[in-house]
Amino acid sequence: MTRRIIIDTDPGTDDAIALLLAFASPGLDIRLISVAGGNVGLRHTLVNARGLVALAGVTIPVVAGADRPLVGQFAAAPDVHGDDGMMGVSLPPGPPATPGIAADAIRAELRAAPANSVTLIGLGPATNLALALTTEPALADRVAEIVLMTGAWAEGNITPSAEFNAFCDPEALQILFDCGRPVTLATLELTAQALCTPAHVATLRATPGGAALHVATEILSRMKPSRRLGGRGAPQHDSCAVAWVAAPHLFTTRPVHAAVNLSPGPDRGRTIIDRWGRNGLAPNVTLLDTLDADGFFALLTARLPTLP
Ligand code: BDR
Ligand code: CA
Repeated sequence: MTRRIIIDTDPGTDDAIALLLAFASPGLDIRLISVAGGNVGLRHTLVNARGLVALAGVTIPVVAGADRPLVGQFAAAPDVHGDDGMMGVSLPPGPPATPGIAADAIRAELRAAPANSVTLIGLGPATNLALALTTEPALADRVAEIVLMTGAWAEGNITPSAEFNAFCDPEALQILFDCGRPVTLATLELTAQALCTPAHVATLRATPGGAALHVATEILSRMKPSRRLGGRGAPQHDSCAVAWVAAPHLFTTRPVHAAVNLSPGPDRGRTIIDRWGRNGLAPNVTLLDTLDADGFFALLTARLPTLP
């Protein structure tokens, strides 16, 4: 079965791996890539998204979106992704961006789609997706599922409390939680199970493939092991969201209630995820709970070489 997909992203090293995995996944009909600032500014993330499309030889419109959240400013993570977002790994020049702005392009795609047919995959700050749905809420009925890499039920990675994407635009994330469509979350606890190690990089290096595999391997080799995770590897945050769509059998899930802290102060952007039903609120989100890590890296190793 083919799934109609819109990917919203801020590439970003781990976004790049996620996009390449998505491009290499049969059954994903990717209609649009909308881009936000985030990991680095939009002027880099847009160039990177276009370059990744060219690298993979796919014809998918790439459209620019927000370079700031609904309130305040994006954080940035050049220490994690390099000043260019790709840790200095070169991408080919991409096709021009599609004229227009992300929220309009997302709405146009939804308007043209049957009810309950589009999967939105959000790999960055939720701004573009929230702007699209909040400016024409009736289009939410076209959405089958919203899959987000965001949030954490324990500690954050940009502040002690907050995960990066949630922190960048908490109001936008709350809009998605409230939009009435099924939301699935890959949080930091899930992505901590997708740790890329030197052994994984060595396997990919030894795997025959084309330029896309080579670039992906180079990016993975430059991603720093996470201090938060004891240096055991580099978490592949965003690929987990794509893998949920491409290979859901790799995951276990649990229904939970989730909300975002919107108040100013040290807890801004913290996701309050009620894994044990303590607050008595009905679940509004599917939490990805466990990942078959070997299966996940086998998926990357099988799929990336299928790209040119
Ligand atoms: C998220 O933040 C970004 O740095 C990554 O690309 C990922 O989307 C992880 O917290
Ligand atoms: Ca990202």
